[in-house]
Amino acid sequence: MSKPKIAIVVGSTRAARFADVPTQWIAKIAKTHADIDIEVVDLRDWPLPFFDEVASSAWAPSQNEVAQRWQKKVAEFDGFIFTAAEYNHAPTAVLKNAIDYAANEWNKKPAGFVGYGSVGGARAVEQLRLIAVELQMAPVKSAVHIAWGDFLAVRQGDKKLEDIEHLNQAAAALINDVAWWAKVLKAARAADAIASEARAA
Ligand SMILES: Cc1cc2nc3c(=O)[nH]c(=O)nc-3n(C[C@H](O)[C@H](O)[C@H](O)COP(=O)(O)O)c2cc1C
Repeated sequence: MSKPKIAIVVGSTRAARFADVPTQWIAKIAKTHADIDIEVVDLRDWPLPFFDEVASSAWAPSQNEVAQRWQKKVAEFDGFIFTAAEYNHAPTAVLKNAIDYAANEWNKKPAGFVGYGSVGGARAVEQLRLIAVELQMAPVKSAVHIAWGDFLAVRQGDKKLEDIEHLNQAAAALINDVAWWAKVLKAARAADAIASEARAA
């Protein structure tokens, strides 16, 4: 079986975003993991409208052309690491909207989070974990939380994420968790597909 493919989804899109810094850092570390392939998926490249379909795509095919392409893109992956900015104690609207624009494509795949903000994006990440469960994902325990002191030091250029030991340890644990669940769930989904083909034959 081929290596699990993991998307690093950049969860904020504003021009002045900080998200590029944790994205490049986590992608560089994840690319050193022998068991997974990594691709950065930037929501700036996916100009989805605010959700405007008759139903979730779990129940009715989406009409919007970007949404159709987005669902195919999400389907390519075996697991996800989301950068999680916190806006008013919640995930960004742009990330929630992108999540809502796919459905079955998220199912039975792991989700990990790189949060940042005053409390390391913890409130946004906890909400994202609940959303992930509704999408039949497997949110992993390990996470990165870049809290205020480190966040400000990195944003002001006084420190680099690469030099902050506890964050590098958290990143390694997160990537290991996502890689493990991605491998296990990819095999399980493949076994399910073979079993359902056999039943149909
Ligand atoms: C609308 C808005 C609301 C915010 N609310 C929070 C918040 O609730 N908690 C927090 O830690 N930071 C909050 N912040 C500060 C963000 O953590 C900080 O701007 C961060 O850089 C946002 O991520 P981004 O730059 O990738 O968009 C908020 C920022 C914005 C723009």
